[in-house]
Amino acid sequence: MCGIVGYTGSSSAVPVLLSGLKRLEYRGYDSAGIAVNTGGSLQMVKASGHLEHLMERLKSTPLSGTSGIGHTRWATHGAPTDINAHPHMSNDGQFAVVHNGIIENYAQLREELTENGFQFSSETDTEVIVHLLEYYDQGDPKVAVMKAASRLEGSYALGVVCARFPDTLYTARLSSPLILGVGIGESFFASDVTALVRHTKNVIYMEDGEFACITPRGIEVFDSTGAPIRKTVSRVAWDVEAAEKGGYDHFMLKEIMEQPRALKLTIEPRIRDGRIVLDEFESFRAQLPNIRKVVITACGSAYHAGCVGRYVIEQLCRIPVEAELASELRYRNPIIDSSTLLIVVSQSGETADTIAALKECKARGATVLAVVNVVGSTIAKLADYVLYTWAGPEIAVATTKGYTTQVAVLDLFAVWAAEALGTISAQSCADYVKQLLSLPERAQRAIDLNPGIPALARQYKAADAMFFIGRNIDYAICLEGSLKLKEISYIHSEAYAAGELKHGTIALIDEGRLVVALACQEALFDKMMSNVREVKARGAQVLAAALEGNRRILSQADDVLYIPDTDPLFLAIPEIIPLQLFAYYMARENGCDIDKPKNLAKSVTVE
Ligand code: F6R
Repeated sequence: MCGIVGYTGSSSAVPVLLSGLKRLEYRGYDSAGIAVNTGGSLQMVKASGHLEHLMERLKSTPLSGTSGIGHTRWATHGAPTDINAHPHMSNDGQFAVVHNGIIENYAQLREELTENGFQFSSETDTEVIVHLLEYYDQGDPKVAVMKAASRLEGSYALGVVCARFPDTLYTARLSSPLILGVGIGESFFASDVTALVRHTKNVIYMEDGEFACITPRGIEVFDSTGAPIRKTVSRVAWDVEAAEKGGYDHFMLKEIMEQPRALKLTIEPRIRDGRIVLDEFESFRAQLPNIRKVVITACGSAYHAGCVGRYVIEQLCRIPVEAELASELRYRNPIIDSSTLLIVVSQSGETADTIAALKECKARGATVLAVVNVVGSTIAKLADYVLYTWAGPEIAVATTKGYTTQVAVLDLFAVWAAEALGTISAQSCADYVKQLLSLPERAQRAIDLNPGIPALARQYKAADAMFFIGRNIDYAICLEGSLKLKEISYIHSEAYAAGELKHGTIALIDEGRLVVALACQEALFDKMMSNVREVKARGAQVLAAALEGNRRILSQADDVLYIPDTDPLFLAIPEIIPLQLFAYYMARENGCDIDKPKNLAKSVTVE
């Protein structure tokens, strides 16, 4: 969602801020703006729409200065207009602020500040912050920031500039990501590491309730009493190329193609001498027999990864497993106690509903294991244990390598736990480990086996609606295949458990309707073929997915995607890849903005 960035150093601030904002574009936004300290006074330029509009405006109103703050806004309070765009400035022109998050008590604060004579110019919740800064300003901006923050309820990552202190930036964090960048003679802040790696790989992850004063000479972090905190400087493991397109037309295509490597990085280090070792979770091994139930919770594609995980963990560990949308779980008064293992899945680690569900279940005594991609994210911090997916930065809004690496970690967990619980034999364990190690290669084979996908997309591009059907894990993959298609191509699609067709949906199957039938679970192949015959009999066109070498499918389906032969439990990884490619090329054929689909944000930090 929104992105913030700040710079102080000896270079001109505007290009640094703009390049940071460019890297945050993927999070989704509808307006942008920057404020620069021009040596004792603050000036800002804002524009609704794409960053290009802001850049155009900066040509006619150039800002010169070596420190400043920038923002990409995803409208929540007030329309995406120039006035509502951040930064917001105080009435006396001393402070400008950029903010990610939501101020829940903004209405009361607005009333109070209005009574005290402050003039509001926007409809945003953020504007209360900058007037609070002026209200509490008694000379030291650090104190004003702390006092203002103490009045705020909700979530925030704040970046503040003060006209009187031209080379200093001030930041504060509560439930919204904030990372500081440590350079040589320059310092930065941003809501996301991707905005920093071009300049520095040395970063400080801010925690909730912390504040910082940032100058070119260094960074001071302190707590809510003003006492200094010693923070560790971490080194970002990936470099700038990882956050660039590298010759592909879209980040999404690049990230699809990166999956074999991302899977290798996620799986291989966790297999030693033929055994799965989950370093970060090994200390829990002895407590596993006390677990009576596993609950997997997440949103969107991460939830779909959880749906796959449910089949695999239940099958191998013989423990009841529930997969539930975090937005439902959080309000359901669930039966969860200290015998529950809660697995929270999130690429960003910042999804608001997932965080709320985690907190709710933790309060009821569950042990929380997070499967997260972004190091140092809120979910990683709140969980008792973290298993990172080593997917690298995922920029396209539609997740691809994020999802497959989540599935890989859940698969690893399932085999590891089954071995620990003794629910699989040593021989089966060794066989599963071999299968897991071969997944990166199978992912590559899934790409190589299906060079005809762009042509299929040309053939089917005019489809206005379609159905994905499958059984068992194939059904869990349908959920993700269907979401991928609709979110980037805007073609209506629905995922159905194939056995449910007759209970209603078949009424929608008519002449020419495209049905994507996933038939890779050999044990259920004949059942799927009956479903395929049913929809064909009503005039549907069928694009099937079947295992490489399966010739029986040819007599039933109009077109076939081939999936490398894989243990049925681990099929999700190779099977989703052709569906990701199909969604990508369908969107491309329809001229859609693939990396930034309309109305969607990469990191959904509000409910
Ligand atoms: C779809 C997609 C979303 C996310 C969901 C959860 O392509 O990316 O459905 O999966 O918003 O996000 P994370 O995994 O960051 O919690």
